[in-house]
Amino acid sequence: MTLQQLAGVALPIIQAPMAGAQASAMAIAASNAGALGSLPCAMLGVDAMRSELMAIKAQTARPFNVNFFCHAQPTPDAKREAAWRASLAAYYHAFGIDANSIPTGPGRLPFSSEAANVLAEFKPAVVSFHFGLPSAELLALVKGWGSRIFASATTVDEARWLEAHGVDAIIAQGLEAGGHRGNFLSEDLTTQIGTVALLPQILRAVRLPVIAAGGIADAKGVAAALALGAAGVQIGTAYLLCPEATITAVHRAALKSEAVRHTALTNVFTGRPARGIVNRIMRELGPMSTVAPAFPLATSAIAPLRAKAESQGSSDFSPLWCGQNASGCKEVPAAQLTRELAGV
Ligand SMILES: Cc1cc2nc3c(=O)[nH]c(=O)nc-3n(C[C@H](O)[C@H](O)[C@H](O)COP(=O)(O)O)c2cc1C
Repeated sequence: MTLQQLAGVALPIIQAPMAGAQASAMAIAASNAGALGSLPCAMLGVDAMRSELMAIKAQTARPFNVNFFCHAQPTPDAKREAAWRASLAAYYHAFGIDANSIPTGPGRLPFSSEAANVLAEFKPAVVSFHFGLPSAELLALVKGWGSRIFASATTVDEARWLEAHGVDAIIAQGLEAGGHRGNFLSEDLTTQIGTVALLPQILRAVRLPVIAAGGIADAKGVAAALALGAAGVQIGTAYLLCPEATITAVHRAALKSEAVRHTALTNVFTGRPARGIVNRIMRELGPMSTVAPAFPLATSAIAPLRAKAESQGSSDFSPLWCGQNASGCKEVPAAQLTRELAGV
């Protein structure tokens, strides 16, 4: 089954959900252009989520996707937090930040029954999950109102697991992809492989439709993924320079610079590996740190450094999420980019 059949859209393209980088405006533009637009909810409280969903409903009658993270919230570990803050002490000192005044916060929230209650008012065509799936009860609730369930797999094992747990389509997320890796069965990064290697192996292992994600940046890339047997593609990085993206000025500038060609997986910003443009803090503390607290608890300690640096125009402490192939980034409206990606 194709993505078009699964989701009721005209084009084989999902505008990837990108928490912190876009909201309803991009989803609306992509959906109205014929793709499946996505609303990422990992960084939205339920009130913000409801107002974003109302905006989408008001501005498109087309299908859209609502996306959630499914991590288990870790128990805060005071010792680890202290060690993490100690490793940041020199930076706090340089910026005149009092390390004791930094609040600890949740950073990113997993799908919950509160979120499901709001979602039930909207019954989106597709609900997608990253980092596995929610509890069987919550999943049954979402399926009960008719949404199709998509979820990210980064290995063949994860694809099989998702199939066994009742998803409707698998998003094969290759190592090239920008943002957080969706891995949930293993933390061993040597299990992570590129899209062109991952897609055919997942296609062989499961019966479900498989969406290719990671490194796809133009119409030829889309055609190549479909030729390999993908039911559709999910594209994130290419949309980051569209005016609808809500990224910071320093992120935008980095995407337009030579620096964009060097990305790496890092856990220093959140505690989980995510791909971004290599910057100072990634070089000096990572890119993979053994001290960073569990996801998403690493976020709070970095936040004041990020804010201070950004206020001075510096991206030294900012997560500059970006995939390995930023060649498709264009400063054009998301609707136009969508049509170009689809070759229409
Ligand atoms: C800035 C950014 C934020 C992302 N945030 C999310 C997210 O909130 N949820 C999710 O499922 N995937 C997220 N992703 C991953 C995308 O869904 C997708 O796997 C990836 O963008 C595909 O690779 P590409 O960036 O090379 O196109 C994010 C990607 C980027 C670039």
